Amino acid sequence: MVSTSNIVLLVSLLLTILVALQFNEGQSFTPIPVPVKVYVTNNLTGNLQLGIECKDKHQDFGYQIKHFRESYIFTVHPTFLFPTKLFWCSFSWINGAKYFNIYDQKRDEDDCDKECRWEINAYGPCKLKAGSIQCFQWNANIVEGDMITGEGNNNHNV
Ligand SMILES: *[C@@H]1O[C@H](CO)[C@@H](O)[C@H](O)[C@H]1NC(C)=O
Repeated sequence: MVSTSNIVLLVSLLLTILVALQFNEGQSFTPIPVPVKVYVTNNLTGNLQLGIECKDKHQDFGYQIKHFRESYIFTVHPTFLFPTKLFWCSFSWINGAKYFNIYDQKRDEDDCDKECRWEINAYGPCKLKAGSIQCFQWNANIVEGDMITGEGNNNHNV
């Protein structure tokens, strides 16, 4: 038989721990993550169609063809405390195929609160941030047909 005061004590203790964990090195606040809607918009010049397929290790959102200014949309569920979610996309159009880590929780969680907006250009994907745009290079190489590694995510500001 567990008394009510013990339960209250336990709940308070858990809440205290939870609140304590929210403060990451005393500066940035790490809220319990909410689902993030990722928009990947065809921004290719010349009215070109763009084939997009996004996935992670467990989920594949399928191949879709998007016209200019149309978006491929999917939802990711960020992990709590340890930012480990990683989704990548392949982009195919007349230029061939390019790959990019479209949602890298470590990189993106501060910019993408409830949604993450990307626009895909021939020279690379750009992320819409509050009041600015940050552009990235395509992923450099592909290993084992699926996992993407390499120095692909160095940004260059335009
Ligand atoms: C979309 O394309 C236009 C025209 O090329 C460009 O000026 C703009 O920066 C692009 N948007 C993003 C977010 O990359």
